[in-house]
Amino acid sequence: MKCLIVGCGYVGLPLGAELVRLGHEVFGLRRNAAAQDELRAAGIQPLFADITKPETLAGLPRGFDWVVQCVAAGGGVDNYRRVYWEGAKNLIAWLAPAPPRKLLYTGSTSVYGQDDGSLVKESSPAEPVAETAKVLLETEQVLLESFRRDKFPAVILRVAGIYGPERGHWFKQFLKNEARMEGDGARFLNMIHRNDVVGCVIAALKHGRAGEIYNAVDDEPVSQRNFFEWLGGTLGKYPPPSVPENPDDRRRRGVTNKRVSNRKLKMELGYQFKYPNFRKGYTAEILRLERAGQLHVVPEER
Ligand SMILES: NC(=O)c1ccc[n+]([C@@H]2O[C@H](COP(=O)([O-])OP(=O)(O)OC[C@H]3O[C@@H](n4cnc5c(N)ncnc54)[C@H](OP(=O)(O)O)[C@@H]3O)[C@@H](O)[C@H]2O)c1
Repeated sequence: MKCLIVGCGYVGLPLGAELVRLGHEVFGLRRNAAAQDELRAAGIQPLFADITKPETLAGLPRGFDWVVQCVAAGGGVDNYRRVYWEGAKNLIAWLAPAPPRKLLYTGSTSVYGQDDGSLVKESSPAEPVAETAKVLLETEQVLLESFRRDKFPAVILRVAGIYGPERGHWFKQFLKNEARMEGDGARFLNMIHRNDVVGCVIAALKHGRAGEIYNAVDDEPVSQRNFFEWLGGTLGKYPPPSVPENPDDRRRRGVTNKRVSNRKLKMELGYQFKYPNFRKGYTAEILRLERAGQLHVVPEER
């Protein structure tokens, strides 16, 4: 297949490398020309454009079979609107004369606003409170609407919190003694290892049905408390101190608490996770850091 990865970064780069390894022809799009060598080293043919500026897309080659939209916006709702929502519209308009067989968009499980710890499936209400998550939901609607209207073959992957080499917010905080348990730590975290994001994207490109949504998350949502207790036991540290939380403040900020199900993805796409839970994924990550001499555990005073 002739593949285009729009936003060839933390996920896009290893995704491109894997597609190359599988024998596909892969192009990777970014804004920053300094990424050229990195892309070429992975066997990816670099393209440079900014999806918020349609005129920069006009001169690019077309005729792709698979397109993956995995650009990421920096913080701020205006940025989100430009990069995700306008970016999706620009991309669809640019691809429309020669539509791909499939366009896969890496969205986010943040579109589920549930805060009661409930089990969340693709058919569950997506009613986010956070402004950024609202933009991500509107971006999905742009893509789904183009499928309904013009049969544009969009597939949505709602991706959970990504961790892996150099990533993992709670883990990094914990190593530095900067992590805090929110209240009793009962809030659920939903995660996925980067290698499994790559695997899920490829499974969805192969088997995903246009117009459908799939949750990309591992098998085991974990409470903050269980996550920190496991990390503490593994690294020989105490779990972090708890800070009181204010439910009203939490609700206002759109902090969610839910257990996201991957059943549809596993059943329909037949994907088998390499890291089905955080213990497997973080064991690999801790070993990697340890072997590279990069595991710096700051001891805490108690
Ligand atoms: N991180 C998470 O936990 C998480 C969770 C759920 C979903 N996701 C989604 O997963 C996807 C991949 O995330 P990631 O962590 O791989 O992101 P990333 O490392 O920040 O990579 C995004 C890439 O997009 C490029 N880019 C940014 N703005 C662009 C624009 N306007 N035009 C063209 N290229 C642009 C950037 O390169 P240049 O700067 O060179 O342009 C960068 O290489 C994103 O869609 C993200 O929203 C992430």
